[in-house]
Amino acid sequence: MRFSRRCLLGLEDLTAEEIEEILETAVPCKEIIQREVKKLPTLRGWTVATLFYEPSTRTRNSFELAAKWLGADTVNVTIATSSVQKGENFIDTAKTIQALGADFIVLRHSMAGAPWLLARTVDCRVINAGDGAHEHPTQALLDLFTLKERFSSLAGLKVVIVGDIMHSRVAKSNIYGLLKLGATVRVTGPPSLIPPGIERLGVQVVNDLREAVQDADVINVLRIQLERQEKGLFPSLREYARLYGINREVLRIAPRDLVIMHPGPTNLGVEITEEAASDPRSVITTQVTNGVAVRMALLYLMSGGGKSGELLS
Ligand code: CP
Repeated sequence: MRFSRRCLLGLEDLTAEEIEEILETAVPCKEIIQREVKKLPTLRGWTVATLFYEPSTRTRNSFELAAKWLGADTVNVTIATSSVQKGENFIDTAKTIQALGADFIVLRHSMAGAPWLLARTVDCRVINAGDGAHEHPTQALLDLFTLKERFSSLAGLKVVIVGDIMHSRVAKSNIYGLLKLGATVRVTGPPSLIPPGIERLGVQVVNDLREAVQDADVINVLRIQLERQEKGLFPSLREYARLYGINREVLRIAPRDLVIMHPGPTNLGVEITEEAASDPRSVITTQVTNGVAVRMALLYLMSGGGKSGELLS
């Protein structure tokens, strides 16, 4: 087993071999979650805590299901009803969760770098479930897994990421992961939402969406963060939808076998129309399912293979 890290904080510092091992381990996990009876004893005796300072449907619940189906106990710390409301700070909250017996803390926080601070503070295993506009490594891993199911190898694959690249942790983690696995990455969106100098990461910037998609294999559509509009970073939702929204007309320009991805939640009618999101080429629902498989793989690997060491027992 090559992936032996205590913490998964981002994809920037993972090797291609480590990423491949997580994706390979997710293959039997996907088989498990398609069984009628999904529960395994692999992580019996382990406790996985989710600590989310921001809302989540997919990430938090898929970690909880992944842990439960591997036989672990789970605890969800809901910030709105926790002692954070009485003034307890982040570090004390984390230490309390560790003292309660957690082996893993899965953290989502609005502050970039919070998972690194947590990893230095507690001894238990830490997984970054999204930190500010920085990284969302497990989202990128599930996106990579979804692409590998379709294409088997990502080498030479042309992936277009559309939208608010500047504030998107999904975009950053996807860029790191895709480039490490040999894909080519093109980013497109309003110029005010493309970080200056992003080409230095090894991606191509194409301002015109229609030009960007014409020979693409994959389009990954980012959620437009509505709060950005209030800051005047793009003119209006209608204008955004006209220039950068994925709709029937854009899909006509793109190759017929284009794969359409979106991390969710979607703003239907803004970054993607309902018709495009439910197009047969869309894998948005598959991404959600694959999120459970990838997070199971990660918990399994980071536990050192559980107590039995057997995933398919
Ligand atoms: N994609 C994603 O992170 O979704 P949630 O915010 O629902 O977890």
